[in-house]
Amino acid sequence: MDLNTIESDDIGTVAGQPAVRTTAAKKVFIKTYGCQMNVYDSQRMTDALVADGYTATDAIGEADLVLLNTCHIREKAAEKVYSELGRIRDMKVERASTGREMLIGVAGCVAQAEGAEIIRRSPAVDLVIGPQTYHRLPDVLARVRGGEKIVETEYAIEDKFEHLPQPKRAEVIKRGVTAFLTVQEGCDKFCTFCVVPYTRGSEVSRPVAQIVAEAERLAEAGVREVTLLGQNVNAWHGEGENGQEWGLGRLLFRLSEIPGLARLRYTTSHPRDMDDELIAAHRDLPSLMPYLHLPVQSGSDRILKAMNRRHTARDYLALLDRIRAARPDIALSGDFIVGFPGETETDFEATMELVRQVNYASAFSFKYSPRPGTPGADMPDHVPEAVKDERLQRLQALLLKQQQDFGLSLVGSTIDTLIEKPGRQAGQKVGRSPWLQPVIVDEMAGEIGDIIKVRITKTGHNSLFAELA
Ligand code: SAH
Ligand code: SF4
Ligand code: F3S
Repeated sequence: MDLNTIESDDIGTVAGQPAVRTTAAKKVFIKTYGCQMNVYDSQRMTDALVADGYTATDAIGEADLVLLNTCHIREKAAEKVYSELGRIRDMKVERASTGREMLIGVAGCVAQAEGAEIIRRSPAVDLVIGPQTYHRLPDVLARVRGGEKIVETEYAIEDKFEHLPQPKRAEVIKRGVTAFLTVQEGCDKFCTFCVVPYTRGSEVSRPVAQIVAEAERLAEAGVREVTLLGQNVNAWHGEGENGQEWGLGRLLFRLSEIPGLARLRYTTSHPRDMDDELIAAHRDLPSLMPYLHLPVQSGSDRILKAMNRRHTARDYLALLDRIRAARPDIALSGDFIVGFPGETETDFEATMELVRQVNYASAFSFKYSPRPGTPGADMPDHVPEAVKDERLQRLQALLLKQQQDFGLSLVGSTIDTLIEKPGRQAGQKVGRSPWLQPVIVDEMAGEIGDIIKVRITKTGHNSLFAELA
């Protein structure tokens, strides 16, 4: 299907531009913090608001509604929200002096965790809405415009995904050739450092038919690469089209049949939920990209136990052996926490040793941040901040070296690249490697959405440079 075709569900927009409305449409500005699931949720909130007559804007100054889609994972992430709210309150006051209204909403995980406390601390906030009730946003806004302040953080009994409108085709095209698709939400694992089970609730899997329909819509609009999302995406399970119980591996096989979808990924997975079928998918599905984000957090069994990860360092390494046997060119990525309560130098050294053994292509590492209400916060022997800083530096130096070495190992080789957008310089295009690195290609490197072969010439700070192969 041609990308420029305008379909019937595009009424209201012309060639991706907002149509002239009889009354000026209200504008919404959404700022997104945190993980990819929040990115996805922000898009779905945008879709719900567009269906309600709003248009999306990138300019906060012209917004009638400012929504912060927040993250509660570490203390800094949550505090950022309050400082941002101070700034926005000033804009709201200024706006009121010109006789126009600006509503302020807080969504996401801080909204779920703190609820009404947000309005107590920041009285300029008009609404607080948790991740499970985004489909009620238009109703909530109608009540807010009627003068109420609203805190909506109950877990809804209805399935929000069934009630959230799908994006218009023009909107999908605008968002690009790669897309996120949430298939699973929430977490029942209760790692002792983590707020997610409290902010996102217990594990829920979306039904197969819903996921397939959404993936088909994305593919029809020109999306070439879909990343399935879940807090524990590989815990996804559901009744398959054949009436049998499917796991994520089976779902990936099904999605790989959709015409146009050339690349599949999934994130974030838990080592405990990597089953045989998922590993087989890595072996048998060329469209499943050879890149896996599999957080381990620590290399010390003592700390892994205190974190309630429910596996050992050896279990993790043995699992990687099986995955690498199935897909030898797979690159690994991970998450690490340094300075969990009780972590000694010996424990930390075990993490460094595990990293040396695995050899990561990329990774995220954090200082432990005590979160209110989690068991970790009440554990004894918190590690001094200066020690955390020093350990984080050592770990990050090692991880950075591994990431750079991985990039260098690709120089001279020919790889597939999905062309995503024009580059900064004329004639340049930016693509994406199978291992998620940005690839900058000079010359006439195909059209956006094409997957082309390129030869890597050198590495940049965080990217690869390439020429047509
Ligand atoms: N579900 C994923 C992780 C989701 S949270 C998993 O189980 O691996 C993303 C990352 O944030 C975690 O992997 C962890 O490394 C980090 N993180 C979570 N809580 C944290 C805390 N209290 N302090 C520091 N980092 C934390
Ligand atoms: Fe948090 Fe653990 Fe659940 Fe991941 S598995 S979201 S770290 S509780
Ligand atoms: Fe943050 Fe919530 Fe995601 S706490 S990491 S936005 S699930």
